[in-house]
Order: sequence, then structure tokens, then C-alpha cells
Amino acid sequence: MNEQTKVTDATPIKTLPDAQTVLDVEHYTDRLFRFRVTRPPTLRFRSGEFVMIGLMGDPDPKTGRQKPLLRAYSIASPSWDDELEFYSIKVQDGPLTSKLQHIKKGDEIILRPKPVGTLVHDALLPGKRLWFFSTGTGFAPFASLLRDPQTYEDYDQVIVTHTCREAAELTYSKNLIQHLHEDEMMQELLGDGLKKLVYYPTTTREDSPKMGRITDLLENGTLFKDLGIDGISAETDRAMVCGSMGLNLDIKRILEGHGLREGANSEPAEYVVEKAFVG
Ligand code: A2P
Repeated sequence: MNEQTKVTDATPIKTLPDAQTVLDVEHYTDRLFRFRVTRPPTLRFRSGEFVMIGLMGDPDPKTGRQKPLLRAYSIASPSWDDELEFYSIKVQDGPLTSKLQHIKKGDEIILRPKPVGTLVHDALLPGKRLWFFSTGTGFAPFASLLRDPQTYEDYDQVIVTHTCREAAELTYSKNLIQHLHEDEMMQELLGDGLKKLVYYPTTTREDSPKMGRITDLLENGTLFKDLGIDGISAETDRAMVCGSMGLNLDIKRILEGHGLREGANSEPAEYVVEKAFVG
């Protein structure tokens, strides 16, 4: 072995193309987990964007060759973080997540370092109040944006809603919000009484303090009544939406009913949508 190929414990061998090393894994339920991996030093991204990640697929029975199995995942960590975090569903017969759910610290995953996406501050026109509407793992891009100081610098108030079937599925968002409230640097950004950040979790199939689909709570006025606000207006409110196709379409309709228009990187407007990819 010559000097160039010599490896030590501190320099793990990269066996996959675009390999990153798993640093930490946390399981929440039999359907949800999060993991952190090393960040390629050259990777720049905007909070809220997604990348393609995955593992090598099974060998082809004829040729024995393996192809990467990749899916779009929102980066759940903010752009300033040295590591990358992802929040994932586990689908027992899903091609990728049936395997991905078994990763452990020290394993490798593939990460294509080409971040893209529309759930970014650049795709919205300036406003006063920012809404994040999410269901299930659709919370992931907001876990990134909620940890980005720009979110609080650009808006007077940030309201994040997260709807899941069961209460245990809210653990990830609940822990994250609690962590933000306890963080000294964040306390400065969140202002007196931490009023700048409002968390509104709901469940649909298990009892919890607030039950119901966010779409129903928006349409019947419960959400506004609970938060003590008049409603949503195109002048002051901006929104980002990430969830199932059904949620995205329903919220789109509701927001457009309030006069908000869909924006994009090339043409910022009042709201943006992205689907939660791995379902
Ligand atoms: P529900 O239990 O009434 O279907 P899923 O696990 O299927 O992705 O759903 C996550 C959450 O999103 C569930 O609480 C589900 O409510 C809710 N949901 C699904 N479709 C919609 C929709 N069109 N509008 C609002 N909420 C939705």
C-alpha cells in the first residue's frame, strides 16, 4: 500500500459514489425516523431545498450490477449547519425506505449534491406573516427554515401548522419547536414571550388537544379564532405548503380564495408549494 491509498481510522473509505457517512439515527414510530449525515464541504444550499439521496439497489440477477436507488428528500437542517439532517417515512415494502430505515451510525448513503426547490425565501415577495402548512414528513423543509435566522429577520410572525394521523407522529416537530424555544440565540430572534413563532399541531385519527385537518380548521375559521387573528390577506401573508398531494391542492385553493398567488424562484409571489416526496 503506498502513501496515497493508505487509510487510517480517521479517513473512512468511500465505497459509494457521492457517499456521505451516517452520524446519528433517531426513530420516532414504526413509520417515522430522522438521520444526520456528513455534509460535503462544497455543498451550498438554501434552507428549504431538497436533494436526491439513497442507497445502492440490489444486484441485477443477470449482470450482478448495482444501480443507485435515489429519491428526493428535503434537507431538514438549516443552511448554516455543518451536518445534514433528513426526516423520513418508513414504508415496509418501499424500494428505498424499506432499506434506509435500517441505516446505522457509520454506514454510508448516496447524496447527489445538487440542491433545488421552491420552498425558499427567494420565491416569496416580502410580507409580514409567514405560514408553513405541513402534513406528515412534509414538515422536513420547515425544520430547515425554522432554524434559519432569516425566517425571523424577514417576518414579524411565523406560524407553522403540522397535521398527522396520530399524536406520536408529531414528536419530531414538537421536539424541534421546544429546542428552538430553549435556544439562547433563537430567544433573541423570537422576541418577547417567543411570540414570533407559533406552533399549531393537529391530529386527525387520534385524540390530541387540537383535532382536525388543517384545511377544515382554516375553512371553518377555527384556526384564526384559536390564534386571535382576522384571517389571511395577500397584502401581509405569505405561505409555504408541503404535504400530500391532497393537502397541497386543498391549501392552494384556500390560499387563492384569499387572493394569494403561487410564486416560483423565477417569479416570486405570495405562496409556494412542494409535495412531500417519499410517501
Ligand atoms: P386524514 O387522517 O383525515 O386523512 P398521510 O399519513 O395519509 O400522509 O396523512 C397525513 C395527515 O394529512 C393526516 O392527518 C391526514 O388526515 C392529512 N390529510 C390528508 N389529505 C389531506 C387533505 N387533502 N387536506 C388536509 N389534510 C389532509
